[in-house]
Amino acid sequence: MKMTTLTKSFLFLGLFTLNSHAMDEQTFKKQAGQRAETFMKMLKSELQKGVKKGLPEGIGHCKVEAPIVTAKSNEGKWSLGRTSHKVRNQSNTPKKWMLSYLDEYRKSKKQEASVVKMGENHYVLLKPLYVAGLCLNCHGTTIPKKVQSAIKKDYPEDQAHGFKAGDFRGFVWVEYKE
Ligand code: HEC
Repeated sequence: MKMTTLTKSFLFLGLFTLNSHAMDEQTFKKQAGQRAETFMKMLKSELQKGVKKGLPEGIGHCKVEAPIVTAKSNEGKWSLGRTSHKVRNQSNTPKKWMLSYLDEYRKSKKQEASVVKMGENHYVLLKPLYVAGLCLNCHGTTIPKKVQSAIKKDYPEDQAHGFKAGDFRGFVWVEYKE
């Protein structure tokens, strides 16, 4: 059967629309990386505001602002958050499948993010976070007493202390799901 130009155009259009829905790994990695960067910048600016307020009060600031910044970053097929092998906020508890990745980064201290393909058009980026000087104020081994009691009050089950500079702290995860 001979195809008319019209049929051909419809076929072409059909393929084009299918394609425009598909998310390939490279595109995902790039876009997810940008989302993680923006998220981290927003968090950092809140963190600095918190530290400026003075430390025990700063904890309250993080408690309120971190979940807000996280919620704001969720959009359509995209969602993101933070997780760790030692969490402060229980709602950041890792999903089961993330445990082996947390273990791997804790040992290797790899800098590069991992892309995990969960299914068709469904990916998660895991971007590692490492402990810097500033973080030690609230996640280190010698946290000032006042800060410690503020943390205990807000997060009675806190595990996110005892870190040293350079330690693996956890991931920012970015998920795309159609
Ligand atoms: C002013 C105190 C403070 C400082 C400084 C601080 N954090 Fe936190 N951090 C918190 C609090 C409070 C939470 C829980 C916030 C929430 O509800 O997600 C938290 C949560 C986290 C989490 C999410 C996982 C979890 O434990 O719940 C990560 C990852 C994290 N911090 C990494 C860092 C890194 C990396 C730095 C340094 C760049 C840092 N933090 C500096 C107070 C602080």
